[in-house]
Amino acid sequence: MCGIVGFTGKQNAAPILLEGLKKLEYRGYDSAGIAVAQDGVISVSKVSGRIANLCEKTEDGKTLPGFSGIGHTRWATHGAPTDVNAHPHMSCDGRFSVVHNGIIENYMALREELTANGYTFSSQTDTEVIVHLIEMYYHGDFKEAVMRATSRLTGSYALGVLCADCPGKIIAVREASPLILGIGVGENFFASDVTALVAYTRNALYLDDGEFAELTSESITVYDCTGAVIHKPVSRITWSIEAAEKGGYEHFMLKEIMEQPCAVKTALAPRVHENHVQLDDFSYTAEELRSIRKIVITACGSAYYAGCAGKYAIEKLCHIPVDVQLASELRYGEPQIDSDTLLIVLSQSGETADTIAAMKECQSLGARTLAIVNVVGSTIAKLADHTLYTWAGPEIAVATTKGYTTQLSVLYLFAVYAAHTMELLPEQEYVRLIGELQSIPKKIQQVLDMNTALPQLAKKYNSGHSVFYIGRNTDYAVALEGALKMKEISYIHAEAYAAGELKHGTIALIDEGQSVIALCCNSRIAEKTMNNIVEVKARGAQVLALAVKGNRAVLAQADDVIYIPDLDPLFQAVVEIVPLQLLAYYVAKENGCDIDKPKNLAKSVTVE
Ligand code: F6R
Repeated sequence: MCGIVGFTGKQNAAPILLEGLKKLEYRGYDSAGIAVAQDGVISVSKVSGRIANLCEKTEDGKTLPGFSGIGHTRWATHGAPTDVNAHPHMSCDGRFSVVHNGIIENYMALREELTANGYTFSSQTDTEVIVHLIEMYYHGDFKEAVMRATSRLTGSYALGVLCADCPGKIIAVREASPLILGIGVGENFFASDVTALVAYTRNALYLDDGEFAELTSESITVYDCTGAVIHKPVSRITWSIEAAEKGGYEHFMLKEIMEQPCAVKTALAPRVHENHVQLDDFSYTAEELRSIRKIVITACGSAYYAGCAGKYAIEKLCHIPVDVQLASELRYGEPQIDSDTLLIVLSQSGETADTIAAMKECQSLGARTLAIVNVVGSTIAKLADHTLYTWAGPEIAVATTKGYTTQLSVLYLFAVYAAHTMELLPEQEYVRLIGELQSIPKKIQQVLDMNTALPQLAKKYNSGHSVFYIGRNTDYAVALEGALKMKEISYIHAEAYAAGELKHGTIALIDEGQSVIALCCNSRIAEKTMNNIVEVKARGAQVLALAVKGNRAVLAQADDVIYIPDLDPLFQAVVEIVPLQLLAYYVAKENGCDIDKPKNLAKSVTVE
């Protein structure tokens, strides 16, 4: 998500920090800042917008002299991309400065506590609680204060901390967010990403979760979470800059597919507290929810397909009819929408022209609006009455992966939240569903670990001309997104069909060797789709089935089977899509396509 860098040595830190931040630009960001310590004073400079602006503001770092410092590129999650919300954040007494990569899940409770204790917040970020906690716990021992502060945090964080009282020293802390220490000669570094280090050193120490380090120009001391010194082996960074940007993966798309367990956890975990779903910017009362007669979900492309998959959970749990409409159709339709309608708008970028137009049209008819968006401060987020951010981090590959899965995860949260608020869920069922939601990141990880045969299967099912995806109910919704992934990155015609519709015409297209991907995961309906497998096989198709682990019957019908772990069918789509993303990826790779930048496509479609 964000990027952090730190330096301590015998030359001015600011130019080195700015260079490091430039190396992190590829990750996407909307603001940047640096802090440098000198003579017991910390000076900070931060700007919204490009690093070039920060270079200009600081005259390439000259206006911030000092030999130790920290820097940050921010991609807004909590609070708009403004100068004030940019990192580093300062303590009230100006003694500490912090940069942070990650999400603090319990920041709301901590903010209340700190405010009650007299600490003043100047930003809307989750990060600012950290610097005030450090100030609160500081009684002359920098390390002790950082340890006590971090012991209060839940969530993910890679931190860099400066203390005006300790010139030349920086502390770096890691919990569930990447952090690498770079070992130089008479200087040391930290960064969230090796790309920021390789220009200076290729000797690195990798911190593990719960560990932290004190860096001075001459030494790096690593501690475990109890404060005991530990010795870590020095590793050589062998990646080229290009490979490092992609985290060692060949393409951003693969990197983003692999990031999904973490992205989905980031979307879900801060919104579940002690078996209770709490939606940060959506707190309708039972009465308000009961007054909703209809929910319309509108979006484009994959976001629309996320809506198609999420519809089932909302209808089943909330007993409210859900109509999913393509924004490009809705905007020119005659939508039956009024103030009893809740319009849910899904968009990764928050800037899709058709989605914005559809939203405005529905708002003019009186609809209440909830946006589920990734990019903070985007047009859709600003237009909506309420916004839930997906917190997926920047998506660089044009084809969305983690954008889709996080949108769907937030829709599931909404469904459970609304059903519980309207007293439609017995307490036991509520707790069970929350448990299922919490298990999703782990299950996505299992899919990623489990399906090592996918590159081989991609070769076999790479028929060159067309692929059919069939499924029913939630499986059909996933088929739509699976087929889109195949089309857009491999340029192979792919068609998603509701399996029950095959015999109403499409089956005429099934011939010898036709590739069919049959989704048989939804236990309520999988058997019916398995009958469709028999039909297409009888006409010569080769069938790759997706099924839930333990379904042995499918082995007798399909040529190959990809298994996914068991999950409540209501939430299965978010796990089930992952092997299909990988299948499309490997087919595209096999066909030599430009995976991250497919032809004719743009990441953000800001024109009609
Ligand atoms: C497909 C894809 C697109 C987007 C669509 C909507 O992989 O990325 O179909 O889903 O253009 O974009 P957002 O979500 O930014 O509104």
